[in-house]
Amino acid sequence: SKKMSVLDLLHKKRKNQRISMVTAYDYPSALHVDLAGIDIVLCGDSVAMVELGYDTTQPVDMEQMLHHCKAVARGTKRSLIVGDMPFGSYEVSEELAMTNAFRFIKEGFTDAVKIEGGRDRAHIVEKIVKNGIAVMGHVGLTPQAISVLGGFRAQGRTAVKARGLVDDALALQEAGAFAVVVECVPAPVAQAITEALEIPTIGIGAGPHTCGQVLVFHDMLGMTTHPHHEAFVPRFCKRYAQLGNVIREGLESFKQDVEAGTFPSEAYSPYKMPAAELRAFQ
Ligand code: KIV
Ligand code: NA
Repeated sequence: SKKMSVLDLLHKKRKNQRISMVTAYDYPSALHVDLAGIDIVLCGDSVAMVELGYDTTQPVDMEQMLHHCKAVARGTKRSLIVGDMPFGSYEVSEELAMTNAFRFIKEGFTDAVKIEGGRDRAHIVEKIVKNGIAVMGHVGLTPQAISVLGGFRAQGRTAVKARGLVDDALALQEAGAFAVVVECVPAPVAQAITEALEIPTIGIGAGPHTCGQVLVFHDMLGMTTHPHHEAFVPRFCKRYAQLGNVIREGLESFKQDVEAGTFPSEAYSPYKMPAAELRAFQ
């Protein structure tokens, strides 16, 4: 099937078809997301937390994001590839934002970029779109701003704040964004944003009324589930698999086989010498 485009997403929204998005950070995860027929693969800056072990998304830089985006691109044929612009790569000037957005396309092989923020960032979105790069917005909980927000917590829980989020999303649409992620807000707020916009909304922890849903690969697949290690997975995240258990069982079986001397068995010892050579050798 053919490559997804930003136009295909808009058509899906207009036809009332829901949009699926999942993160990926490397070749195998991208391969699985793509083969599953997920519409959008996001090389998210959540890579900082779920792949690199940091407590926040703040530490990742352009070089790290591009390294991961390249691998994702090599595993993706059909899904639209969106690259998360990292903290510090777009805020201080439109020129810096442009330089870094071009790097995502030319070096990271993404189809689009995502930046966090609402009205304050609309001028940056506009600049990038005018220069030919599709931009996905991101409102509500914007994890790069954790220093200001004080934690990973729900946003838009007062009438004034909720109206502010609708205005943020409208400003991003006005600036030319092709879609907006809405993260960690009460369902009625995400619904109001969705009803106010022509472009699709993609929710995470934002209830069922958005045009699409996104989850983090490692969280949704239970990658870090382990009986002796309590991994944090957000409350809104449904776990569709317990990959951590599968991985642990595989590793423990290997260890047992090695210690018992039962691996490799004959079936896994494929390299033979011709009989005559073996006699001459021994
Ligand atoms: O980095 C990320 O994984 C994200 C999604 C949660 C939208 O930004
Ligand atoms: Na992100």
